Amino acid sequence: MSRQIKVALHDEDFYKEAALSIVESASKAVEKNGRFTLVLSGGSTPVKLFQLLSDTYFKSRVPWSKTFVFWVDERCVSPDHKDSNYKLAMDNLLSKVPIPTNNIFRMKGEMTPPSAGAKAYESEIKAFFKLTYSVPVFDFMLMGIGEDGHTASLFPGTAALNEKNKLVTSNFVERLNSHRITLTYPVINNAERIFFLVQGESKAPIIKEIFRTDFAQDRYPAQKIISIKGELIWLLNKGAASKLPNEIRDEVKNV
Ligand code: 6PG
Repeated sequence: MSRQIKVALHDEDFYKEAALSIVESASKAVEKNGRFTLVLSGGSTPVKLFQLLSDTYFKSRVPWSKTFVFWVDERCVSPDHKDSNYKLAMDNLLSKVPIPTNNIFRMKGEMTPPSAGAKAYESEIKAFFKLTYSVPVFDFMLMGIGEDGHTASLFPGTAALNEKNKLVTSNFVERLNSHRITLTYPVINNAERIFFLVQGESKAPIIKEIFRTDFAQDRYPAQKIISIKGELIWLLNKGAASKLPNEIRDEVKNV
């Protein structure tokens, strides 16, 4: 398990660094396996990354025909709903690049009950990777973090945190009074590259908590994201990094 903490001192470099990391992962994956499996998060942070990847420079550097897109989580809404993570990625990226429709694997949040959507997605993942029992290895897992330390739809105090067997599960989030579908720790932690993209002063307090060394590093869901066999990269912008504990400053690389 290797952990890297990168801080982009200038915001124009923040999203560029993330896009370059995706291009690098894609190149390695296609060379090794002939394909690139990219798992997207939702929320507001990735929007500018999606838009950058659809710009001429990066659009021409991702092997879209060999790229297969999945989601780390989804809200239990229809794919055209304003809160849909699928809609977010389609509107800002996937509708603007030459990725074959069949390469896009949408989490069907609209299925009822939500557990049926989770089960269906797990079956799709197992069929794609031609797996029965083992855990798939996705190439690039784009993650975000909430101010409460959640990541994907692994929220504090929710049942999904304890799911150690399923690859995908539904999860009722009391604070939001809503269900979500989410990948679980076993599959997220098995990825080649797990990439947290965190920006904004509002995330500085939780980032400080996540990297504190004076208590066990398992207090928040995002802290239980560890790379079992690949890389764990945290990319922070200056605002999100503004409260990083001094004791880990020598682990930080400015980009
Ligand atoms: C979601 C995301 C979620 C997100 C965090 C951060 O479905 O909302 O998958 O885990 O990454 O909530 O969201 P922001 O980028 O909007 O701060």
